[in-house]
Amino acid sequence: MNSIAICFVCLGNICRSPSAEAVMRDLVERAKLAGRIVVDSAGTGDWHIGEPPDERAQKAAKKRGYDLSTLRGRQVAAADFARFDLFIVMDDANAAALTAICPPEHRGKIRLLMEFATGDDSRVVVDPYFGGEDGFEKVLDQCENACQGLLNALRAQLRA
Ligand code: 4NP
Repeated sequence: MNSIAICFVCLGNICRSPSAEAVMRDLVERAKLAGRIVVDSAGTGDWHIGEPPDERAQKAAKKRGYDLSTLRGRQVAAADFARFDLFIVMDDANAAALTAICPPEHRGKIRLLMEFATGDDSRVVVDPYFGGEDGFEKVLDQCENACQGLLNALRAQLRA
């Protein structure tokens, strides 16, 4: 495979999926694979279209060197299913909502982010929106772990 396009998906596209997008983009750039791995994010819901990421997500990310300020919320669109090779979702509700609108031939592209983590048995990245700041730190810990695993899996695909 010459290039791979991945889209991280959560509910609002203002907390978890933009965090994952920024973490993954950083890893991809460090690996000098920016020309071969396209990274984006979107939400299944429409409440936060056009908005920057949640202030708490931006603040937690900035402490670790990730800049979320230029990202804007968007909703998954029908055209995305052909455009992306993988949809990396945060939880089971995201998977169900995406599956419901995904053409059957593209459903195999939907995977849980935490499938790619090592040393963390969590099935999902829990929605931090209604919780405290520690929830945003946990989101970043999980994204850093799982995105490294995802990058390793993508490297194997790019070699194949
Ligand atoms: P996200 O978090 O799915 O990680 O972006 C949420 C953001 C907003 C809402 C829920 C979850 N909301 O209900 O508006």
